[in-house]
Amino acid sequence: MLAEKLHELESQLYNIHYDRKETLYFLKQGRPLLVTGVQCHNSSTGTGMLQDAIQVAKEFHGNVLEAPVYWYLLEPQQNVYDTSHVRELIHTVRKAGLHLVILWFATNKNGHPNYAPEYIKLDPDTYRLAVEPDGLPVPSLSPHCQATLRADQKTFVELMKCIKEEDGDCGTVLAVQVENEAGLGGTDRDYSQAAQRDFENGVPPELEGVEIPDSGASMRDNSWRGRFGRHANEAFTAWHQARYIGEIAAAGKQVYNIPMYVNAMLGHPYSEAGMAYNSGGPTVRVLDIWKKAAPSIDLLCPDIYMPCRDYYTHFCQAYSREDNALFIPESSFAGPSAALNVIRAAAQYEAVGVCCFGAESALDETGSLREDVVDTAVSFQMVRNMAPLLLQYHGTGHIHAILQEEFMDQQLILTEGFRIVAHFDIRRRIPDTRETLPRGRGILVQTGEYEFYLTGDNVALDFVARPDPEEEMPRFWLACRQSNQLNFLTVEEGHFDEQNQWVVDFRRNGDETNYETYARKGEVVRIRLNPKMGKKGFVKA
Ligand code: DGJ
Repeated sequence: MLAEKLHELESQLYNIHYDRKETLYFLKQGRPLLVTGVQCHNSSTGTGMLQDAIQVAKEFHGNVLEAPVYWYLLEPQQNVYDTSHVRELIHTVRKAGLHLVILWFATNKNGHPNYAPEYIKLDPDTYRLAVEPDGLPVPSLSPHCQATLRADQKTFVELMKCIKEEDGDCGTVLAVQVENEAGLGGTDRDYSQAAQRDFENGVPPELEGVEIPDSGASMRDNSWRGRFGRHANEAFTAWHQARYIGEIAAAGKQVYNIPMYVNAMLGHPYSEAGMAYNSGGPTVRVLDIWKKAAPSIDLLCPDIYMPCRDYYTHFCQAYSREDNALFIPESSFAGPSAALNVIRAAAQYEAVGVCCFGAESALDETGSLREDVVDTAVSFQMVRNMAPLLLQYHGTGHIHAILQEEFMDQQLILTEGFRIVAHFDIRRRIPDTRETLPRGRGILVQTGEYEFYLTGDNVALDFVARPDPEEEMPRFWLACRQSNQLNFLTVEEGHFDEQNQWVVDFRRNGDETNYETYARKGEVVRIRLNPKMGKKGFVKA
């Protein structure tokens, strides 16, 4: 009861969601998988550069590589299919011991048709581009064009057949991203005659009850403008874009049913579609529209490149919904913000997966991880090491993200039984030979009344028992050293094995336990506290 109250209070204070999210990704054997990894650069598939991306996935302790396959290679001539680059990709990634998320670069690659086959590009009368109000085309294929939809869908079905044939028994391919940062670039909607007719037909009945906050809509009628006000054009495009992609995904799932998601190009909060970002993609404003229009899509996902905490948090919150687990397919890997944001997503927002974009660029000219990327790799290591617990404790309120934001020298974590103080810049107590310490960060999971697992870097915890409400002299029992620094039964360093069983690698005691319980460079520590601490009779009165 108290735990629930505390979580309610904490979630109000820090705006944290504790809703239960179902894990999306499962291994062939049925075990859930928390996805961690990297995405390669756009055109690396089928080149030697893929090996660099694989190396980085491993150095990030990742389990997944996200890599594209291309419509123009799959269908080099109309109705002629060549799946060789897909098969090669699957084999290469499987051989490397990783899982694969396949990205379908087709009608839409960041809104543009760069990866469409030549027969599409050469026949704009049939495969129409969207147009601006003055009739000039924008460099995006129109979602109001059935011919393009059917052509893309047909090839996507060939892709899914190939994945099933090549991988149905192995399960190397975990999921497929359908298109890439879809939407119209350079306009808020298609103003062609066909699109105009769709616009004038008004809002479809499926969107009954859907509203967009802050739209200023007059609700005067069922027109797009009347229902969605200043966001009418984006809402309209989102509906058609989502139907388009939803139909492609549904046809693919008929052949081979694995998770499918769509990723969103994001503008800054409150920026406008077609200017700051492609119009019609699954942005925050139109998530409800996408959910109604494309039920075949399992997840709508934000590509979050913004380092700033407020924006990162804004998007994590918006995409963590009862009907949408948080999966971040693209994010930055460099600098302190990236190292913190990985933990923010995985522990604070309980993401089912986090990946960084542009893997190959994480290596320097000697082939080692760039210095400004190392801390992000350590953050990924933490998530990977704690994955069994993160999956087990999703939605319980027992997972705590530890994040040293600017100006912080400590962070408070309040649980039912403890006031836990996370200290940063731990060198004052605990040796660490690094010249500069990274921002403190970590993950704490409470697995029993007196049992915790900690992973982190540059973090040290003090566990202070909270006063028993019935106790008349709580200070007396709490103040002694046995209740504070020496309040543990065991402190172990270790790891989880393949069966998710805890394996002890090193038992800390003496000098290693005289002060706070620390974690460095992503190590995992299991802490069993003494249940008698702070209780009456723990010390002789
Ligand atoms: C977002 C796109 O989805 C990626 O494919 C890639 O082009 C990155 N932007 C580049 O920053």
